[in-house]
Amino acid sequence: MEVANLLTKLEKEDLRILMAIEIGMKRSEYVTVSNIKFYSRYKMEETLFRLKKVHKLDLIFRDASKHEIAYTLNSKAYDLLALHTLVEQNIISQLGPLIGKGKESDVYSCMNDDGDIYAAKIYRIGRTSFKNVKKLRDLIGNRGHLSWLYINRLAAKKEYEALEKIYKFKLNTPKPISYNRHIIIMSYLRGKELVYFKTIKSPMKIFNKIIKQLRIIYKKGKMIHGDLGEFNIVLDNKGNFLIIDWLQWVPIDHPNANSLLERDIGNICNYFTKKFKIESNVDEILNSFYKK
Ligand SMILES: Nc1ncnc2c1ncn2[C@@H]1O[C@H](COP(=O)(O)OP(=O)(O)O)[C@@H](O)[C@H]1O
Ligand SMILES: [Mg+2]
Repeated sequence: MEVANLLTKLEKEDLRILMAIEIGMKRSEYVTVSNIKFYSRYKMEETLFRLKKVHKLDLIFRDASKHEIAYTLNSKAYDLLALHTLVEQNIISQLGPLIGKGKESDVYSCMNDDGDIYAAKIYRIGRTSFKNVKKLRDLIGNRGHLSWLYINRLAAKKEYEALEKIYKFKLNTPKPISYNRHIIIMSYLRGKELVYFKTIKSPMKIFNKIIKQLRIIYKKGKMIHGDLGEFNIVLDNKGNFLIIDWLQWVPIDHPNANSLLERDIGNICNYFTKKFKIESNVDEILNSFYKK
């Protein structure tokens, strides 16, 4: 990935300038040069030199329409800041190829110094379509200035915390390794989404296991996935699977909890019936969730 190469080109002063803009972006999308200078604590000359360099590297956008020039980070710069931190913290040392592209993220494989391979989910909400952002209003609250940077950071945090909550039940959900800004590092299952399988070995067994695990997550974790279907289950040829994509989880006392659970379970049941002829009764399954 391009960003990984860029990391080697940047000096710590460049990163500090990017971080100064990042701080300024808490208050407004574009940050004036004098504010960037202030947050970086560099002299004006150094500030301008670094801004010019990172602008040339296509890491920031410039707004020259106001009386003072201002800059904002683009998503590549934000990726760099997060990846740089994860590398510094020895969480990962290399980014591998893209392994998945979702509605609101790009997922890459990555590796640490010991050769362990993980998945790095990079959130990309809002930059291209602001439709998804509306959906996240509850996440954001009534903050005036809706920055994509903040939304993506919040999304990563929300999903990471969900993964942490569920992980303690030792089920087939990704192990959370770490997160920074808008990037989550988690265990990786080399496989593909359930939807792409024509046949699977023991569909009945997998179906039962998924339902059983969702029930444990509901009863013990008091959580509902909220966006479950054949796209958010990764499976390999040996029958290992992971239930992924926990951003939209809701607690079981959420006003829409029942309808979301019904939809999740319904999606799984329908899919296994349609594709693998596994008969099931959604109401019966739902009752087994609700019963004490
Ligand atoms: N832990 C993982 N292991 C393997 N593949 C993954 C993992 N997490 C995500 N993926 C792949 O990346 C795709 C997008 O991830 P997902 O979490 O579903 O994001 P989105 O919210 O954008 O749909 C998935 O459909 C899957 O192919
Ligand atoms: Mg998904």
